[in-house]
Amino acid sequence: MARELFSVHKLSKIFPNGNPGILELSLSIFEGECLLITGSNGSGKTLLMRMLLGLVEPTEGEIRFRGLPLHTAIDTLRREVGMVFQDADAQIIGETLEEDIAFGPKNLGYPKDVIKTQVHTALIATGLLEKKDFPPRRLSGGEKRRLAVAGILAMGGEVVIMDEPFANLDWPGVVQVLESIRHLKAAGKTLILLTHELEKVLALVDRLVILHKGMIREAGAPEGILDRLDPVYGVRDPRRTYTQVRDCTWLME
Ligand SMILES: Nc1ncnc2c1ncn2[C@@H]1O[C@H](COP(=O)(O)OP(=O)(O)O)[C@@H](O)[C@H]1O
Ligand SMILES: [Mg+2]
Repeated sequence: MARELFSVHKLSKIFPNGNPGILELSLSIFEGECLLITGSNGSGKTLLMRMLLGLVEPTEGEIRFRGLPLHTAIDTLRREVGMVFQDADAQIIGETLEEDIAFGPKNLGYPKDVIKTQVHTALIATGLLEKKDFPPRRLSGGEKRRLAVAGILAMGGEVVIMDEPFANLDWPGVVQVLESIRHLKAAGKTLILLTHELEKVLALVDRLVILHKGMIREAGAPEGILDRLDPVYGVRDPRRTYTQVRDCTWLME
């Protein structure tokens, strides 16, 4: 039985205007799993992620990380949990890729030679070695997300959370990010993916959670959930085949 990494118990976040962003949400996230949290725009994916990282205080309920209340586990969490934000530009710190990737391990106080080795290994793992002296802003969207992954690998992060990893990417960018996800899975990392674009990544996922209005409506094996999908969630079964061209759009649902 896999160990519980995050344990979320009856978590709520009610905004001052009375809107519940997250409502009485309970969820266990296990070590080594690849979990996809999906749901339409505004369903609470990003908010839940921010709460898992301790960036937003709950109104009610509790989050534990490795059995400890989040506020006492925050140092371990910062070391172990890496984040790929939706806005890849917001995450860039260094003047070159190498410098950017070194930022995390430097912060953790690793010795210089260890940092050098870890940065080099991360550059190879993400296929960015050739561009190590490039300014990160010159990278493509897919490469910028891979740069964020490289930073997490160099820190030795065991858990990777990605918020809308396919947002604003062209097809080659999507393929690059999928490669990174495959690599992280093969390396045994725990992956928490938050996206409404489930068709892109579903085949790599162990467990699917559907959020709707801040509540978990479905959780389990993707197949079973897609077989009984309620249209109200705004999530489409990607296995559906089209017979007419005019049906070939998500927005016409
Ligand atoms: N700072 C905030 N103040 C008020 N409402 C917020 C705030 N942040 C998020 N929300 C609301 O919380 C809900 C969930 O948002 P979000 O997590 O960004 O959705 P998703 O990432 O699934 O698209 C939305 O209804 C959003 O309007
Ligand atoms: Mg979001």
